[in-house]
This record gives sequence, structure tokens and C-alpha cells, in this order.
Amino acid sequence: MKQTDSGQIRAGVVGWPIKHSRSPLIHRHWLNQHNLNGTYDRHAVAPDVATDFFGHFASHGWAGCNVTVPHKETAYAAADRRDASAQAVGAANTLWLEDGQLCAANTDTYGFMEHLKACCPDWADTAQHVAILGAGGAARAIVYGFMMAGAPRISILNRTKRRADDLIAAFDHHKSLGAIDWEQRHNIASFADVIVNTTTVGMDSAGPGGASADASPNALPSNLIDLTRRENPNRAIVCDIVYVPLLTPLLKHAKENGHKTVDGLGMLLHQAVPGFEKWFGVRPSVTDELRDLIIADLDAEQC
Ligand code: ATR
Repeated sequence: MKQTDSGQIRAGVVGWPIKHSRSPLIHRHWLNQHNLNGTYDRHAVAPDVATDFFGHFASHGWAGCNVTVPHKETAYAAADRRDASAQAVGAANTLWLEDGQLCAANTDTYGFMEHLKACCPDWADTAQHVAILGAGGAARAIVYGFMMAGAPRISILNRTKRRADDLIAAFDHHKSLGAIDWEQRHNIASFADVIVNTTTVGMDSAGPGGASADASPNALPSNLIDLTRRENPNRAIVCDIVYVPLLTPLLKHAKENGHKTVDGLGMLLHQAVPGFEKWFGVRPSVTDELRDLIIADLDAEQC
């Protein structure tokens, strides 16, 4: 752990832009809760200086940091050591210094799987077939999580088929993985036991071409998937990693059709745990109190 002369430990979140990051709210809550002498701040780093920033990380006086868009790949490349999930995704969201070396992790895998476990402890008992919508970095982290958990069949559905194929190739065509045409997404509820949206569809700020353009938050997400066609009497677990809004059009539609739902906020909270422990030496808990704090902040922003 790296401390200043006053014994204070510094950490933060690095991105561009960074002002909307909710990570300070999470980490400061834990710092207060555990009465620790530490700080956690937002730090804007422009893309043209990011390589230099991460390349000289030890000189900034931080114990470590979270990394967000667009620097996750740059942070990964700058690291001396990388955990298995960071290697699987090719990107890092958590950095810390250990024995003078810059270590990198991708805690999105952990964050997603922990939240799924917390919401549906028995998910693996019935999950023969997992369907992932999307093929970006978040999809990679989550696919890796299901692979590690031993899910027998994981199907990737992406608007741009080539990216689904690339994702499968990145995992060496693991036997559990396969691509399904995007056009088949409306049949998804007839074959999948767990459905995960990793696309930006449903996000309030998706912008032109994104969900906001295609479906209002209250409309059926007919542009995403139709969950009414289910021949299998079992209900699916429907997860969304979008958390603004918390009840996405997909989750609303899933609830209305009797499926179990898992929202995106839990992943955000759980992915923060390993970093906090590395920097400040205490493993924090994701509690209802923390969740309510973030929800209040999200609500305040939407007012
Ligand atoms: P991240 O790394 O955060 O996962 P990303 O790499 O930008 O983000 O990936 C975004 C995902 O959302 C992609 O799978 C993208 O599909 P394409 O590969 O076809 O671009 C998906 N996506 C974004 N907008 C979409 C839309 N309107 N309809 C369907 N999929 C969409």
C-alpha cells in the first residue's frame, strides 16, 4: 500500500470525460464506513497523454485507480502484471502497485457474476443455455465469467455478426461458445435460461441510433428482444448491465412477462470491491445502504 507522509492512501478513477463517474460515491462511502485515512477522486486524462500517464503511474503518488472509457486498453498495455480476466478481455478497469510493479485487473467479470449470484443464488442449476446480446468489452468480460462458471452453452447475438465471431475467436472457439444471428433474438426466450443485455440499447443517453432513438424507456423494446414467445414453461433470468435507467425497457418487459430480472447497478457496485481492498486493505461489502445511496444520486440527476 502506498501512503503519503501523513499516512493517507490515495486512489481515484481515471477517464475522459470523467465527471459523471459514480465511483467516488461508492469508494468514499466505504472510506467513511471503515474510518480510513484515504482519498478517492476523479481524474480526467486526455487520450493523447494517457500512455504517458499510465506509463509513469508510480510517480503520481497513488496506491492505484479505477480506469474507465476510453483508457481501459491503454491501462492494460501499460501494466507489468495482468489478472486472468484482464487478459481474457484485453482491457483493465483496476490498477494497483505491488512490489514496484503496476498490476491490472478487469473486475467486470467478478462484478457481474457476484451480482447474479446475489440475486439468483441457484442460477447455475437451471442455466443450460446463456444468451449474450452484444459483443463489446463488457460482453467479453461476462462471457468469460460464464465460461469460468462452467455454463454448458453460451450464445452470442450481436447486430454486427463479425464482432460476435471475433469474440468467439478471442476465446479460441471454446466448445461452449457459438454465435446466433441477431435476427433470431426475438426467439431468445424459447431457448435461453439466462439472457444478458450488454449492448447500449435501453441506456438513457444512447443517442442517435441507440435505444433512446428506437424505444422510449416505457415502450416495449421491440428493437431489442421480444420475450413473450416462450415455449419452455420455465422462466428465464433476464439481466441488463445498463443502470440508467435502473428499470430498463428490457427489464420492464421481462418483468411483465414473468421472468426474473437482474439490474445493472449491482455489477457497478460489486466490481468496485476488489480495487478498494487492494488500495485500502479492507474488503468492503455491497449493502442495501450503498445501493440506496447510488439510486438517490441517479434519481437526483434525472430530476
Ligand atoms: P462496451 O465495450 O462498453 O461493451 P462497445 O464495444 O461500444 O461497448 O459495444 C457496444 C455494443 O452495443 C455492441 O455489441 C454494439 O453492437 P455492434 O457491434 O453491432 O455495434 C451494441 N449496440 C449499440 N447500439 C446498438 C443498437 N442500436 N442496436 C443493437 N446493438 C447495439
